[in-house]
Amino acid sequence: MKDRIIQLLEQATATLKADGTLPADLSVNIQVDRTKDRSHGDYATNLAMMLAKPAQKKPRELAEQLIAALPADDSISKAEIAGPGFINFFQADDLLGKQLAAALTDPRLGVAAASPAQTVVIDYSGPNLAKEMHVGHLRSTIIGDAVARTVEFLGHKVVRQNHVGDWGTQFGMLLALFEELPGDAGQQLSDLEAFYRDAKKRFDASEEFAQRARALVVKLQSGDPDCLALWKRFNDISLSHCFEVYERLGVNLSRADVRGESAYNNMLADVVAELEKQGLLSESEGARCVFLEQFRNKDGDPLPVIVQKNDGGFLYATSDLAALRYRQHQLGANRMLYFVDQRQALHFQQVFEVARRAGFVHADTDLVHMGFGTMNGPDGKPFKTRDGGTVKLIDLLNEAEQRALALVKEKNPELDPATLEHIARHVGIGAVKYADLSKSRQSDYIFNFDQMLSFDGNTAPYLMYAWTRIASIFRKAELNPLELRGDINPQADQEIELGNHLVQFADVLQQVADKGMPHLLCSYLYELAGLFSAFYEHCPVLSVSDEAIRHSRLCLAAVTARTLKQGLTLLGIDTLERM
Ligand code: ARG
Repeated sequence: MKDRIIQLLEQATATLKADGTLPADLSVNIQVDRTKDRSHGDYATNLAMMLAKPAQKKPRELAEQLIAALPADDSISKAEIAGPGFINFFQADDLLGKQLAAALTDPRLGVAAASPAQTVVIDYSGPNLAKEMHVGHLRSTIIGDAVARTVEFLGHKVVRQNHVGDWGTQFGMLLALFEELPGDAGQQLSDLEAFYRDAKKRFDASEEFAQRARALVVKLQSGDPDCLALWKRFNDISLSHCFEVYERLGVNLSRADVRGESAYNNMLADVVAELEKQGLLSESEGARCVFLEQFRNKDGDPLPVIVQKNDGGFLYATSDLAALRYRQHQLGANRMLYFVDQRQALHFQQVFEVARRAGFVHADTDLVHMGFGTMNGPDGKPFKTRDGGTVKLIDLLNEAEQRALALVKEKNPELDPATLEHIARHVGIGAVKYADLSKSRQSDYIFNFDQMLSFDGNTAPYLMYAWTRIASIFRKAELNPLELRGDINPQADQEIELGNHLVQFADVLQQVADKGMPHLLCSYLYELAGLFSAFYEHCPVLSVSDEAIRHSRLCLAAVTARTLKQGLTLLGIDTLERM
């Protein structure tokens, strides 16, 4: 609807430009918003106020002229001036019912597929291997996954890239420790985490060990077959832990999406050579760097982006530059989204700028660092175990499921253990994911099991249960909401409000995709569940005697159920027939 009004306003401004009312070269950015108070119309624009000054007109006068120039349209019953020069649009009375009936029969729920479709590279999760995934990896993995699903649903081609840290100095330590062990050391790798801890201890305690580890990194990175074979073994073990976590989380990342730092190894020398060729490189204390005027430290001295150390080694930034180039030229990206901790903001500003100057990416390719804040414990400090250690993600998920099991058991003592466990698994994981997704990604948040597992408030259990309740209406009526067809005539206020909210689904998804902010979808669904409750309380569905009203309300409930389920699916949260 918004898009339709924008089109109409575009036509109206074109008409006014053609007849000389508006300057022909005036650039126009049309903004249309939904109104808070429906009695003054459903949508409003401040266009006349924006254009009044450059057009040298009074805002109300220009608004009048814009309204006169609007082409007639079935979806608008009237447009009128309000206040200092707003234009308010009233949508046609039968429009809402028509839109809802169309959504009912549309597998995409009235969400148009993007045209033209873009190729969107989404970089998320990206844990450093050798250690197991810890809570610090949760946000990138979950938020990135929800945005990837949403962008895909909107019809774009999504290429997921899991930029794992699989090439760093940690592997030198592992190789060095492995060298010291007797023949069947392979055994010890089953607990790679413990092996890593031992290696780190040795590294910190012994200079001889540390030197050997550093030499082994160089040997590995220069392609020694024995080192590489062992490195591959470490990686396989470590990745299998990651995939265990992804599976538990229900995250859409596969082995094919893994393209870690090591994948760019053979391109790094060329990246540096290209920077050199373009005159972007300088040398500073033997290291090769790019200096950009706009990045300075607090003393005002320029900050370098180091791409090669004085010992010849390459850096994190160098692999990211190679990755940018690869994503542009091999993957054909129109947009690249990076879901990485906010603390890496400067890194991304720098590599994006270097990549642009070096021509590694096209000028019109959108590069966005979608940063996020920290997940904190109850004390407001980064989430840790009681003794101050990092919390393994798998342990956190286990605890969530255990707590969910206790809750679900209490609510449904009559269910058998297998069913209880099934429900607990989905509630526990859903709760952890939703708690993260529902907060604006830019802020820090406090992780709190009790809150996220509550059946009240903006939580996964509340929304999952809302869906289950609607599903039970259809079970009772012996109807399949997917097969229901027919007219929808919202009459009561609660029906109209619910309907008006439902038809904004496409708008919300678009915002989630543009801003990389799934919390907007969470708020939308939470509000949807509330509006449905109000509707269900005031408008009897199964017990109403008028057949046409009963059918219309059932159809409205069906669109609600499907929107709720689709929304939760895009967030990566499962729904349950019973809970
Ligand atoms: N492995 C990195 C870390 O743990 C995150 C990778 C993010 N992606 C990227 N292209 N740099 O900090």
